[in-house]
Amino acid sequence: MNEFLRVAQEAAYQAGALLKDNWLKAKIIEVKTDIVDLVTNVDKAADTLITQLLRTRFPTHQIIAEESAVSGQESAYRWYIDPLDGTTNFAHSFPHFAVSIALAHESQMIVGVVYDPLRNELFCATQGNGATLNGRPIHVSPAPTLDQSLVLTGFPYDRRKRSEFYLRFYQAFMVRTQGVRRCGSAALDLCYVACGRADAFWEWRLHPWDTAAGSLIVEEAGGKMSNFSGDGFTITGEQTLASNGLLHREMVAVLQQVLSEEEVRKHRIHPSTSSG
Ligand code: IPD
Ligand code: CA
Ligand code: CA
Repeated sequence: MNEFLRVAQEAAYQAGALLKDNWLKAKIIEVKTDIVDLVTNVDKAADTLITQLLRTRFPTHQIIAEESAVSGQESAYRWYIDPLDGTTNFAHSFPHFAVSIALAHESQMIVGVVYDPLRNELFCATQGNGATLNGRPIHVSPAPTLDQSLVLTGFPYDRRKRSEFYLRFYQAFMVRTQGVRRCGSAALDLCYVACGRADAFWEWRLHPWDTAAGSLIVEEAGGKMSNFSGDGFTITGEQTLASNGLLHREMVAVLQQVLSEEEVRKHRIHPSTSSG
């Protein structure tokens, strides 16, 4: 286990150094699925660096990295890599992005590492051993209710097509919390919940490489992960909800209320007539 963590940290530090060297320089920026879905030459270089290092050290493991094809044969060990989480920030030289690396064994996440190279902050967790920030144990916040909370969110890449839908959730939390932040790196959002800088995080349609490391870090820091119904979280699901645990029921209640109002709107049923 320690060897897995050590190599994940080494890869995160090396890729992080590459991001730090390049964040203020001119980048080659391409669009992927949509004009707001970007990739830079540095995303690709960091992806190559991490996947090559992992392939050399663990040739039998499978690697799923955002900017390259799945590599390696089927294996009980599977790495999930986001070489640059926060590409839009990075492309604009906005100082908030990270490297995210996780290892799963069968269906269990066993190692998670997220590195913010500009703040030199390394968040780590191994299954059953707690979570750390630069080697010191971290814990989720004690915020007891939503009206005393700061919550985080993000918007997926179909946000131009579904802006009203996503903004309904934003509005619901805006009026129930002390603040909602959209920082632009889901991996760091999860780590910020883990270390108590924020109290909860929700986002639609994240990818496995966005949440694999951060979800383990949240759980190992004493927080809770689920979908928007409060049921088991999976990195392949559409819904990511993280909290300090204390806020989880309230978060789920708000998300469910927005979803049911959305159903009513969709089916054009007036709320007062929908029950009978
Ligand atoms: C994105 C970031 C962002 C989130 C998007 C992600 P990328 O990852 O995590 O915060 O809102 O949904 O896709 O593309 O910068 O690796
Ligand atoms: Ca990402
Ligand atoms: Ca990325």
